[in-house]
Amino acid sequence: MVPSLSRTLTGPKAWPFVGSLPVLFKNRSRVHDWIAGNLRATGTSTTYQTCTIPIPFLARKEGFYTVTCNPKNLEHILRTRFDNYPKGPKWQTAFDDLLGQGIFNSDGETWLMQRKTAALEFTTRTLRLAMARWVNRSIKNRFWCILDKAAKDNVSVDMQDLLLRLTFDNICGLTFGKDPETLSPGLPENPFSVAFDTATEATMHRFLYPGVVWRFQKLLCIGAEKRLKQSLQVVDTYMNDAIADRKKNPSDDLLSRFMKKSDTCGNAFTSKLLQRIVLNFVLAGRDTSSVALTWFFWLLINHPHVEDKIVAEIATVLKETRGGERRKWVEEPLDFEEADRLVYLKAALAETLRLYPSVPQDFKQAVNDDVLPDGTVVPAGSTVTYSIYSAGRMETIWGEDCVEFKPERWLSVRLDRFEPPKDGFKFVAFNGGPRTCLGKDLAYLQMKSVAAAVLLRYRLSLVPGHRVEQKMSLTLFMKNGLRVFLHPRKIEDGHLSIE
Ligand code: HEM
Repeated sequence: MVPSLSRTLTGPKAWPFVGSLPVLFKNRSRVHDWIAGNLRATGTSTTYQTCTIPIPFLARKEGFYTVTCNPKNLEHILRTRFDNYPKGPKWQTAFDDLLGQGIFNSDGETWLMQRKTAALEFTTRTLRLAMARWVNRSIKNRFWCILDKAAKDNVSVDMQDLLLRLTFDNICGLTFGKDPETLSPGLPENPFSVAFDTATEATMHRFLYPGVVWRFQKLLCIGAEKRLKQSLQVVDTYMNDAIADRKKNPSDDLLSRFMKKSDTCGNAFTSKLLQRIVLNFVLAGRDTSSVALTWFFWLLINHPHVEDKIVAEIATVLKETRGGERRKWVEEPLDFEEADRLVYLKAALAETLRLYPSVPQDFKQAVNDDVLPDGTVVPAGSTVTYSIYSAGRMETIWGEDCVEFKPERWLSVRLDRFEPPKDGFKFVAFNGGPRTCLGKDLAYLQMKSVAAAVLLRYRLSLVPGHRVEQKMSLTLFMKNGLRVFLHPRKIEDGHLSIE
């Protein structure tokens, strides 16, 4: 161990040559809770430093990690010193084959240009209406049919799988105007979705081993790198068809909107660039809302009083918008204005994301030496990991009841308005600062529509013996899915009950 280094390290025990890797490995199936425990142990500082490669030259750069969930530090990294904390070359190189220089995978000018263009589009009402249209179409034409049949046959469904399919279809519709209908009776395999999944997974592999391993595999076209190459060919062909189609028939999707724009020199975007731009949006918006909804439904199974309040709120709104005839409440999914009025439901979704953020941790690479607001010294070239999962679970941030599921904490005193925390960096499930999630409002709209579509018709119960566990990946999936039975909810006069 480098002697001056061991004095700096404040996290879990670090050993000579292997640093903190052994304890990381030991806790590999509960990494997020382990990090939260380490951060809790630091008291109010909620920051520690650790090293995975304690050898000269690398110990203070590649191998060095500052782990934090301190809101002041988060604000510093994500907003105040944004320029000093880009995603960095390690992340970008790994994602380059899949995402190129798209918004999700670029820094500096390349990122800024796309961000400005996209930000304009994401504030338009037409994009929100387009999202409502894609969501409602999949709920009405396919999701309800699948759920109705499962309820009638009394068979369980994997809610996570259904939701992943639904949001994948929605994001494809929204970004390039083509719904691949992966959510269909029989749950068919779709070549584009399979190839996209394989490419994403193979890309993740690149983070598991030192860079030289995947570069060597890529050179020889073996293992995960071979799968990546093959799946990218399928993805590229599918995207080229979509682009050719949109060129002939422009619509209100993001691809059509980007086709009308030009780069800084006034040239139209090439098909290759359009392809990567669109794929970045698909990656950003595909799994995040479905994973959040999966945790949300599981939390409701365990907190029926919250479920009752949500159903009562939806009933109150629908009574006003559709009248007293209960049949009309379940005939059509929510429209945009109805979804907008569901304040308690939004609070319950935000509370879900506080405890189970879809992106549980994120990384930045420091350009220059820096000092965080809590006094932690960050060396140039080292990595800052910010644990979004831990930020939602610290007593010092959220109070003694921090691990309880309480949507009320998101409401105004009179319980009639959604009120996020005054310090925005206490809640970073949608990131913060200039790189805040662009799809936040669309995601809430989508999640509310799906939640209401399920809850007005059914109550869910967990299949006995089903184990709910976190999967350790960049997105907080449930490892074994969420297997549930559906119990039709009978709508009676004045209140809703179970048949
Ligand atoms: C519950 C749902 C969602 C959550 C929790 C979420 C969370 C996040 C987070 C944490 C980031 C920052 C990632 C990073 O920089 O490494 C992000 C970025 C982004 N999100 Fe979301 N997201 C959600 C839904 C969506 C949807 C539905 C869309 C698109 C329709 C979307 C579009 C984007 C885009 C384009 C970025 C990149 C912004 C940039 O780098 O400038 N997100 N999101």
